Amino acid sequence: MSSLTDMQEWQVLQKQFELEADNPILKYFESGQNRFARWSHKLGGLFVDYSKHRVSDKTMQLLMDLAMARGLESSRDQMFAGNNINFTEDRAVLHIALRNQSARPIRANGEDVMPKIKQVLQRLADFTDKVRSGEWKGYSGKKITDVVNIGIGGSDLGPRMAVTALRPFVTDKLKFHFVANVDGADLSNTLKQLNPQTTLFIVESKTFSTQETLTNARTARAWLLDKLKNKDAILKHFVAVSVNRAAVKEFGIAIEHMFEFWDWVGGRYSLWSAIGLPIMLAIGSARFQELLSGAYIVDEHFRTSPIAESLPVKLAMIDIWYVNFYHAKSRAVFPYSYDLRYLPHYLQQAEMESNGKQVTREGRPVDYSTGVVSWGATGVNSQHANFQMLHQGTQLVPADFIVALQSFDGLPDHHDKLVSNCIAQTEALLCGKSEQRVREEMQRQGCPISEIDKLAPHRVFSGNRPTTTMVLDQIDPETLGSLIALYEHKIFVQGIVWDVNSFDQWGVELGKDLANTVLSELAQTSSSTTHDASTNGLIDYYKNSKAEAQRKCGPD
Ligand code: F6P
Repeated sequence: MSSLTDMQEWQVLQKQFELEADNPILKYFESGQNRFARWSHKLGGLFVDYSKHRVSDKTMQLLMDLAMARGLESSRDQMFAGNNINFTEDRAVLHIALRNQSARPIRANGEDVMPKIKQVLQRLADFTDKVRSGEWKGYSGKKITDVVNIGIGGSDLGPRMAVTALRPFVTDKLKFHFVANVDGADLSNTLKQLNPQTTLFIVESKTFSTQETLTNARTARAWLLDKLKNKDAILKHFVAVSVNRAAVKEFGIAIEHMFEFWDWVGGRYSLWSAIGLPIMLAIGSARFQELLSGAYIVDEHFRTSPIAESLPVKLAMIDIWYVNFYHAKSRAVFPYSYDLRYLPHYLQQAEMESNGKQVTREGRPVDYSTGVVSWGATGVNSQHANFQMLHQGTQLVPADFIVALQSFDGLPDHHDKLVSNCIAQTEALLCGKSEQRVREEMQRQGCPISEIDKLAPHRVFSGNRPTTTMVLDQIDPETLGSLIALYEHKIFVQGIVWDVNSFDQWGVELGKDLANTVLSELAQTSSSTTHDASTNGLIDYYKNSKAEAQRKCGPD
């Protein structure tokens, strides 16, 4: 047994699970319990209802006991103190410093990081003002009309998600494009829409060594040079965001056009840093500040609240209850907002890259699940695609439903329908529909008994399926900042309870290395022999097919 499953608090929870696993959630709403009021929380522009869960008061208390016993308070304090909690990379984890709105210094390796954060923020704001006002001109003297972000993973998903989510706040003077995939279709489709004289490329890469990003950036640079015929054009059309000055310089981007961040900002936690440049260009520096302030509201709540009153802790522990006791294999997020359509992708990286780990911080294999498959898509589209399985499938899929009180689109009829669908789905998942009710309904509709016997079982909804509903005042920079920070801290808490390092990502390295080896072999004519038989076969199949195609198309 591991130190986690060995703990008394864990074993008490296991017994509690045996007692309460099949309890109907509705029982917890019985009169006098006031559960909705007690199991909901208003934090900044977020209202979070976590009452529809298979968690009793007693279970929540035991989950909190476990969180305390895992040393959560001191781990949280270590993060905020700038200790090197990402110990496999010997780094602090300080995305919280990027949105620190107080005068409190935050130190990494003894140095207060706040002055340099403010300095970069100011440089970003100055650059943003110049581009948005048209003062920043392209090589031929024209204003910038299109901004292309080239980056992948954390250097893509955050800016892409936020620029899309904040559509009503985005300037109509600039069009935003995001290129991530090394599949040439991504870049070439984007380039087709662009005028090189009025396009600004932002190359975002923490390491500035990521194959996909550098390949896209080099091709974009070649495209620009081909069109503008002068290498000085790069100065006006390329900027970089990175921690790697040498590589940026080598690429040919002037260091004065590089915006810095630091190794204590993880890629998937970086939208608050200079990686947020596309967001700032889109919404302006004052609105970007609101994004940071929104996150700060949640940071302060997490930093100062007692564990038992902390919203991210409660949400994290509810998930742990499903993952480790019910053995749920996935969790879903359904934004009832077209503008939030990239949120599930963003959270997928945040959750799966952070906590999809197989060893404890001491390097011992875990004997419990860490993380879950995180997925989702927008409501209401999901209702017509995957909700069938949520309602009647055999897997337990705890789900977050996200909706805003206000829409910006001036179509109240649409918004009421959107909200009603969101609320109704959580009701359907909770309450279900019994066979007796199905039969009564069919009888009232005059169905013959033979038909009722045949169809009733297919029309039953077992219910008791858990959901959290998050109601945002509106989708604005501050509320979005709070929402993202809430998920970040939830992920942090889970990492502490599971005893994994949530801030490294060694699991992506092997594939990167092997891809380089395979790439070099694709250029060779001889058969591949150094891999397993399947891999050798696939490499040869590709090479032979490509050679055959070239023979057919070649000069005759
Ligand atoms: O491959 C995973 C990863 O390292 C992510 O963690 C990161 O967000 C992404 O690649 C991009 O890395 P970079 O910003 O260094 O290009």
